[in-house]
Amino acid sequence: MSSNTLTITDNRTAKSYDLAIENGTIRATDLRKIKAGSEDFGLMTYDPAFMNTASCHSSITYIDGDRGILRYRGYPIEVLAEHCSFLEVAYLLLFGELPDPDELKNWVGEITHHTMLHETTKKLMEGFLHDAHPMGMLVSTVAALSTVYPDAREIRDPANRLLQIKRLIGKVPSIAAMSYRHSLGFPYVYPDNDLSYPENFMNMLWRMVEPKYVANPVLARALDILFILHADHEQNCSTSAMRSVGSAHTDPFLSTAAAAAALSGPLHGGANEAVLIMLDEIGSKANVPAYIKKVKEGHVKLMGFGHRVYKNYDPRAKIIKSVSEKVFAVTGGNPKLDIALELERIALQDEYFVTRKLYPNVDFYSGIIYQAMGFRPEMFTVLFAIPRTAGWLAQWQEMVTDPEQKIARPRQIYTGCDVREFVPLEKRAAALAATR
Ligand SMILES: CC(C)(COP(=O)(O)OP(=O)(O)OC[C@H]1O[C@@H](n2cnc3c(N)ncnc32)[C@H](O)[C@@H]1OP(=O)(O)O)[C@@H](O)C(=O)NCCC(=O)NCCS
Repeated sequence: MSSNTLTITDNRTAKSYDLAIENGTIRATDLRKIKAGSEDFGLMTYDPAFMNTASCHSSITYIDGDRGILRYRGYPIEVLAEHCSFLEVAYLLLFGELPDPDELKNWVGEITHHTMLHETTKKLMEGFLHDAHPMGMLVSTVAALSTVYPDAREIRDPANRLLQIKRLIGKVPSIAAMSYRHSLGFPYVYPDNDLSYPENFMNMLWRMVEPKYVANPVLARALDILFILHADHEQNCSTSAMRSVGSAHTDPFLSTAAAAAALSGPLHGGANEAVLIMLDEIGSKANVPAYIKKVKEGHVKLMGFGHRVYKNYDPRAKIIKSVSEKVFAVTGGNPKLDIALELERIALQDEYFVTRKLYPNVDFYSGIIYQAMGFRPEMFTVLFAIPRTAGWLAQWQEMVTDPEQKIARPRQIYTGCDVREFVPLEKRAAALAATR
């Protein structure tokens, strides 16, 4: 017998089974041969929230949560954040290798070529209420692109897939910027193809009457680094949504909209907005101990702390903390930083947080930087969605080309009624009265 097996004895039948172990995993479907009788469906696993279930093979992103390691295609996030542009990293995620100079030039040119939105998309966005949440506008407008590009349904064609990928990476910043300008009541600004990806985004956000927008290079680089840090994070809630919806062969615009919808939740990408709301509520450094007490008593969560996978300092949070110093040198400090630093200082030595391995995550400091740059909290998740679009698409492409993948369909443990006799409406009151 190979040592790479798991022997299970079913005490209901006294039968033993050898299951193969591959990559530290057994195949859940192998359990189905374990049956209490010939009519038995076979053993299943119960794993709410997928705490211990691998749903795919992936060669995109590696996380070691205990050691605080994050790598894209084998490259440490710290190295990529220091040396690369976001579009270079997007190429790496999608194609598996860093581009050479010519490949990068072509890639940047192609993405830039796809930044324009159809005028009807602009009109669609004009229809949102003035106070619509920018994340709702982004989700709906990305979904609406599916109607502009019906060719996107040809998901089996690699060239077609690549075209849609370029369209999405090119257009998402334009939609994000329009949602921002819409909520401020400013006219939309068209893309400027002379500018880099982050500079063009800043142009679409902040250009007013000047003939040519000139981005502050420190802020443009900070935004690019933030984009790199947010580009992918393996099988998180929104990526699982992307894969799950995409597994039905839904087109990539609708799948990306579904992923963005998942991202908008406060336990996921919405956490950076929630951090700012929390810091506002705390108000000053002096109120931090009282707030920590409330967290420990279970009344509230410390937003921006804790992670399903990281049980150590989130490596992205470390990089963001160092980026914040450069941003604040340009924008002036954000008073909320003092509150955040004090929260972190107290939490990192408090037994409650230490024993639960709760450390700052990517969202703890990103919102403070975004606010210093001039973004309102409602925009924070949109800023997360822009780079994550590259990650979602890399994961979607991997899923679509994986011969083992099928339409996603979890099992359930049914806990409802057994078959019941139907009672016609006119007899129901009497029947119910008799049973009460
Ligand atoms: C991210 C998150 C959803 C992960 O949740 P999870 O893996 O399901 O972890 P659990 O909820 O099982 O937490 C384990 C324990 O830590 C506590 N905990 C987790 N995050 C906490 C937080 N932010 N503040 C206070 N306590 C927290 C839980 O109450 C639980 O305590 P218990 O064992 O006494 O019941 C969770 O940490 C969270 O809600 N954090 C705040 C939101 C956030 O910042 N999200 C962004 C993620 S990038």
